[in-house]
Amino acid sequence: MAQDPSARGLLGAHSQTDSHRRRSSDKEDHDSDFESDLDATEFLDREAFTFKSPASKPAFLPRRQWSLWRPCTGRSRCCIIVLAVGLAIWIILAAGGAFVYKKFQDEPPYGQSPPWYPSPKGGIASTWADSYAKAAKMVSKMTLAEKVNVTTGTGWQMGLAVGTNGPAVNVGFPQLQLQDGPLGIRFADNITAFPAGITVGATWNRQLMYARGKAHAIEAREKGVNVLLGPCVGPLGRMPAGGRNWEGFGADPYLQGVAGAETTRGIQSEGVMATIKHFVANEQEHFRQPWEWGLPHAVSSNIDDRTLHELYAWPFGDAVKAGVASVMCSYNQVNNSYSCGNSKLLNGILKDELGFQGFVMSDWLAQRGGVSTALAGLDMTMPGDGLRWANGESLWGPELSKSVLNGSVPVERLNDMVTRIVAAWYQLGQDDETKFPRTRPNFSSWTDDKMGVLSPGSPSKQEEVEVNQFKNVQANHSIIARQVAAEGTVLLKNEGPLLPLTPHGFTESMLKLRRNVLARAADRAANTGKLKVGIFGEDAGPGKGPNYCKDRGCNEGTLGSGWGSGAVEFPYLVTPLEALRDKFDSSKVELHEYITDGPLLDKSSEQNVLSSLELCIVFANADSGEGFAKWADVAGDRPNIDLQKGGVRLIQQVSAKCGPEGTSDVIVVIHSVGPVLMEQWIELPNVKAVLLANLPGEESGNALADILFGETNPSGHLPYTIGKSLDDYGPGAKIMYTPNGVVPQQDFKEGLYIDYRYFDKYSVEPRFEFGFGMSYTVFGYSNLRVDEVKPKSRLPAPRPSPAAEPPSYETAVPDIEEVLAPEGFDKYKLEKYIYPYVKSADEVGLIDSKYPYPEGYNAKQPLSQAGGAEGGNPDLWEVYVTVKVDVENTGLKDGAVVPQLYMSYPDSNEVDFPVRVLRGFDKVFLKKGEKKTVEFGLTRRDLSYWDVEEQNWVMVTEGDAKYKFGVGGSSRDAAVEGVW
Ligand code: BGC
Repeated sequence: MAQDPSARGLLGAHSQTDSHRRRSSDKEDHDSDFESDLDATEFLDREAFTFKSPASKPAFLPRRQWSLWRPCTGRSRCCIIVLAVGLAIWIILAAGGAFVYKKFQDEPPYGQSPPWYPSPKGGIASTWADSYAKAAKMVSKMTLAEKVNVTTGTGWQMGLAVGTNGPAVNVGFPQLQLQDGPLGIRFADNITAFPAGITVGATWNRQLMYARGKAHAIEAREKGVNVLLGPCVGPLGRMPAGGRNWEGFGADPYLQGVAGAETTRGIQSEGVMATIKHFVANEQEHFRQPWEWGLPHAVSSNIDDRTLHELYAWPFGDAVKAGVASVMCSYNQVNNSYSCGNSKLLNGILKDELGFQGFVMSDWLAQRGGVSTALAGLDMTMPGDGLRWANGESLWGPELSKSVLNGSVPVERLNDMVTRIVAAWYQLGQDDETKFPRTRPNFSSWTDDKMGVLSPGSPSKQEEVEVNQFKNVQANHSIIARQVAAEGTVLLKNEGPLLPLTPHGFTESMLKLRRNVLARAADRAANTGKLKVGIFGEDAGPGKGPNYCKDRGCNEGTLGSGWGSGAVEFPYLVTPLEALRDKFDSSKVELHEYITDGPLLDKSSEQNVLSSLELCIVFANADSGEGFAKWADVAGDRPNIDLQKGGVRLIQQVSAKCGPEGTSDVIVVIHSVGPVLMEQWIELPNVKAVLLANLPGEESGNALADILFGETNPSGHLPYTIGKSLDDYGPGAKIMYTPNGVVPQQDFKEGLYIDYRYFDKYSVEPRFEFGFGMSYTVFGYSNLRVDEVKPKSRLPAPRPSPAAEPPSYETAVPDIEEVLAPEGFDKYKLEKYIYPYVKSADEVGLIDSKYPYPEGYNAKQPLSQAGGAEGGNPDLWEVYVTVKVDVENTGLKDGAVVPQLYMSYPDSNEVDFPVRVLRGFDKVFLKKGEKKTVEFGLTRRDLSYWDVEEQNWVMVTEGDAKYKFGVGGSSRDAAVEGVW
């Protein structure tokens, strides 16, 4: 029987966490309850009553006397018409309103996400044992106020970083400084604007992923940051137009997992805590959080259990295995429970199954309930404010103090929350004051001035101090930024081959090919004797400067990154135009610059120049970002996957007008946040070369020149599929732009079939397949060997017993004295700043009546067989089979190759499998003629699927089940194959 992936994932009605949340201090829920108390029939009756009054004209008046009854004297007919039209509009609106009201009044049942309690305690992994032992000593000395401080942000703009919790001063635990983001230090000066995640994914270079993370962390540490809010592996890229896909590494869990883990290792090698985010299924910006989009609730991503494991949670598993210190839960709901209050996700999957030892932090205001989120596994709330931005009313802070005092949050849970945070701090060596001095950051996120206040979010009067020291932390990180940008540039087309260019223009071989055209051009160019090259498109130039819009929230000039919290202030941005001006030899090449997206004019003077061009390089782009900002019709998510700002028209015009009758060669360069459609121009005969430069960061132009002029041989490969239409990605790939209910429901019905898995399953021909990318040289694959390391077996070894014991503490409810505001507090407290204090015992409440714990709260869940250590059951990470392949550079240039291994599961009548899945890749540099052996180790997890009945990872072993492996240069290029 075919396995139903939803069998265990969409369990039961009414999530415990959510029913719980509704009873807690969630005011927004109350608002919506109030609205739904209105009865639909009452609503209609009121309207019916209103309709009666215009009709109450006295019918008995003789016709002649009608004029005596004049609602609008002297214009009765006109008035009647106006009234009738008004009425008609009213009726339509009322009917529409009633319809919408009817449609939205039924909220879906809260939560199909099952309960998972109690929250597993940290401290079971051997890898963290020392840190937990140290943390236990410190936490055991903390007061209740200190513990609450550590778990709760002090409020939006209450510190210099985007997030700060409270310190535990008496025991020497500092306030932590948390800062975005995944591509550089947000809101900071003198830092590096690295290429975005999607560009990193396109490098397929593990060492570079690590190196970028490490350089990023050096800068963070030197700026005084403890916790970096990155890397980002969610969104995964289910929807190609998803606004934040570019912050992550590509539309495949394996690629995201490797890149997320390498980046985490790189960051943490410098002692900075990494935060893997956003857990989980924050796949679109529309409706991602309450009120941002006018709705009281966030979208619910409804995912079945198998898909959650094999796609969306997969990369988080890699990060946990890599030792990530922190996980950020997302804004959206999953199966109708907010991610940050979803006990199945946080307690069950993350902490039990994946054995996560660090702390779970909320996205900014993603916490939607107080007690419920603590029970569901949240450990730190950020930025501290609760349901509304910057109002200083936390769902934790004093509320958490009270909840612990009145017994609704067990002391054990609070201790675990704090211990996880303190253990992560020790684990990263941040107790070493030579590396992490206990001072505030040396920059302010909120002002560029040297002097400023420490808590600008508070209206209280404060003294100004030095908040910006303008410390330059860039070192030589531009080298890494440039290398990532160059290696993350994907060569999609190169007929001729036209590329690489030389500073003189064309290479010798191109010159030979182009003899005829050149002869004609030579006549025209006789006056200067120079080769004429045109550069087109606003995307080649500076526009109004790289930081023109706040948070980069507009598409201006050349595109170096998307927008939102994942963007930084560019310290500089080398435009393609600058780099090309610099690179072409001006004694041989005459540049003509049309740095605009406007249509090419039909002026004859311009026509003459255009038709004399020998080579045209045209730039176009597509931008998107985080949902809090909108540019043109891009409200976070893109409205489509087209080029923006008239890019298609520009490319077509350049192609038509470049050279005599459009016969000169055109190079198209695209900067983009994700896939763009190319159908309208990719096959134009003179569009000879196409480069997808992704989002290259500050070194944009230099990196592009490295590729165009062949100093770096292109080795980027697509981290997603480029389809021929958005429809080709399948129905699940569409953003929901219009809510389908008061809690928008996004059903991930396509299950495992996103991006190339969808194209492969339904035999859809992409324009460029996932993993595709060309080089200036040629690679050959041969001699694939499959070697068994361990025999196949259906299930992993039993879950091991914990390698260490979580710390144990006093469980008695602390004395209220521990959290009463200190003497004179009112005099120095800052308004809106979040403190842990309660005023008196009267505030505590609930002591006698028991907290209404959610259903399932007392049913202890069985521990997962997939768990047992950091990253899950260690057997899942054991290599069971290796695949070796010889790769040879058979072309004429040195270059790097990216051998990719795709696995097909054995044929099965029982379980539905994708045609192929990525399960290995490497990047190897080969001199021309050189040959190397590449080895891939496949772990048990790589070889398994998530069995929803078994609730475990299962290897296919039935009959003569054979795994198939194909290795080559893309997902559709299995140059060599083998079986196991
Ligand atoms: C984003 C997070 C970010 C946080 C802090 C949120 O809006 O979703 O990715 O880390 O803000 O800036």
